[in-house]
Amino acid sequence: MCGIVGYIGENQAAPILLEGLSKLEYRGYDSAGIAVFNNNKIEVAKAKGRLAILSEKTDGGKSVHGTMGIGHTRWATHGEPSDVNSHPHLSNSGRFAVVHNGIIENYISLKKKLMDNGVEFISETDTEVIAHLFEHYYNGDIIETMIKVLNRVEGSYALGVLCSDYPDQFIAVRKASPMIVGLGENENFIASDVTAILKHTRNIYYLEDNEIVVLKKDSVKIYNADKEEIKKEVFTVDWDVSAAEKGGYEHFMMKEIEEQPKALRDTINPRIKNGKIVLDDISLTTEDIKNINKIYIVACGSAYHVGVVGKYVIEKMCRIPVEVQVASEFRYCDPIIGKNDLVIVISQSGETADTLAALREAKDHGARILSIVNVVGSAIANASDDVIYTWAGPEIAVATTKAYSTQLAVIYLIAAYMAEKLGMLTSGEYAKLVSDIEALPDQVAEILKSKEDVQYLASKFFNCHSIFFIGRNLDYAVSLEGSLKLKEISYIHSEAYAAGELKHGTISLIEDGTLVIALATGRDLFDKTVSNVKEVKARGAVVMGVTTEEHDNMEDVADYVVKIPATNEMLLPSLTVIPLQLFGYYVASLKGCDIDKPRNLAKSVTVE
Ligand code: F6R
Repeated sequence: MCGIVGYIGENQAAPILLEGLSKLEYRGYDSAGIAVFNNNKIEVAKAKGRLAILSEKTDGGKSVHGTMGIGHTRWATHGEPSDVNSHPHLSNSGRFAVVHNGIIENYISLKKKLMDNGVEFISETDTEVIAHLFEHYYNGDIIETMIKVLNRVEGSYALGVLCSDYPDQFIAVRKASPMIVGLGENENFIASDVTAILKHTRNIYYLEDNEIVVLKKDSVKIYNADKEEIKKEVFTVDWDVSAAEKGGYEHFMMKEIEEQPKALRDTINPRIKNGKIVLDDISLTTEDIKNINKIYIVACGSAYHVGVVGKYVIEKMCRIPVEVQVASEFRYCDPIIGKNDLVIVISQSGETADTLAALREAKDHGARILSIVNVVGSAIANASDDVIYTWAGPEIAVATTKAYSTQLAVIYLIAAYMAEKLGMLTSGEYAKLVSDIEALPDQVAEILKSKEDVQYLASKFFNCHSIFFIGRNLDYAVSLEGSLKLKEISYIHSEAYAAGELKHGTISLIEDGTLVIALATGRDLFDKTVSNVKEVKARGAVVMGVTTEEHDNMEDVADYVVKIPATNEMLLPSLTVIPLQLFGYYVASLKGCDIDKPRNLAKSVTVE
């Protein structure tokens, strides 16, 4: 969950590295550093804190000369954020500089051996062992040295390595951590993700685990672990550069909230042809679907919340049992799972460590893996039997919005697709469902038109100490997401509860003025949730109800009401979540929080 950039070319490297790192700050932002080859030696500049501090220290990179370098923005795992723990790390002689994303699991034993050999360590990081291992194994051949180092380290890594003996090239590798190679004109790049280099090139190589890449300004060569050169296909990224820019918005999060209608259209429309859902991307046949014994949905955080919606929707539409579990639990629970089970893995980044490990666990049990992923060519996508991409484009804000929405859309497509194959829907029901799915982007756009109403409500409640979200069934599933959105960016304590469960303990926390956000969008359970609203009102709560235009009696019980358009009950989460995202955003904005980079968080969680 750190960000890496590397550059070799004809231009000054440091400003390019800093600019690239600014696009990767979402991956970690507690310190940053660069190493640039200059005058036959490696020059390093580092600073604890945001990238802006390093940028100021180096005059936007202008004070660091040289046309080849590597850079890093860190999310601390081993050792506190500090100048000394920041990357790049140097070997004792200064010959090697290393940036690393991931975790070296056996670093303690390696460190001990190296120290016994007289190596001096200056940081608390796991990464520093890599720099010293390079020095230890160096035989004058950088590729052979890399292979020897890789044979010793266990864990996950994306590495960029400069060696002062090689003024015209640097070397990189990845395993279970992301890294792409950017191919320019007389310049080449590495980066944790395409957004960092999109300004310079759209042509990239995706690297497989342990492929070693040697970058010169006019060539890129890739080798396997036997030092044999391998050929790769160039992939051309079709994102618009503006997709990764703020484009006049104060925060990426608001830009991404506003982008949801387009992201939904891009995800849904190509998969509906002549009124039918066409999932060309997957190889699951009707026979396979009929043979599914059970479906597991595995994910983390907001992606897990999509899974909770998925459980209700798939069970209702397909009558196949669905179990949804957070990946960090699934991977260690010795799941009872076999070859007739389908595991749906959901991940925006496609690199979340726990989700990837859960996927591997399920695969080891023989289950079939269908993943819903946003980042093309990511580890989770590569490890799956089938992938359905969410075409949300780059999501930069740490708190997800458009990725969540597009993941939901894919869940609907999968559920409706399977229900049709299983003969669970009449042709009329299917046609209506498909057209309701197609209508979602416009309905989301409609809700966004009244975002100022939510802003007004946020202005009334941004000083709250604790906020509860309640709902039943699908409304409960969306409550989980609304509560997470609010707490992660505004730092207000919040909990989501199944509305009927509150009175089994947690209602004791409700006191005069406590805000309860009650979601009551569905028809069948509306009255039940209204009863729960009355219970909390009777204990002094202030209630903000979220319901559809169909219900005109929420006003009788709630203090404030937010209305969303009506649609098929199963699809309502796509609409209900929008005011909740806006509420979290506006509350955080009024509190002056750092919305795109909330404290202690990083966007890609590549550690357990
Ligand atoms: C919350 C959020 C996280 C992610 C979670 C999984 O706003 O973004 O909870 O949903 O870390 O990340 P991915 O989807 O990349 O696996």
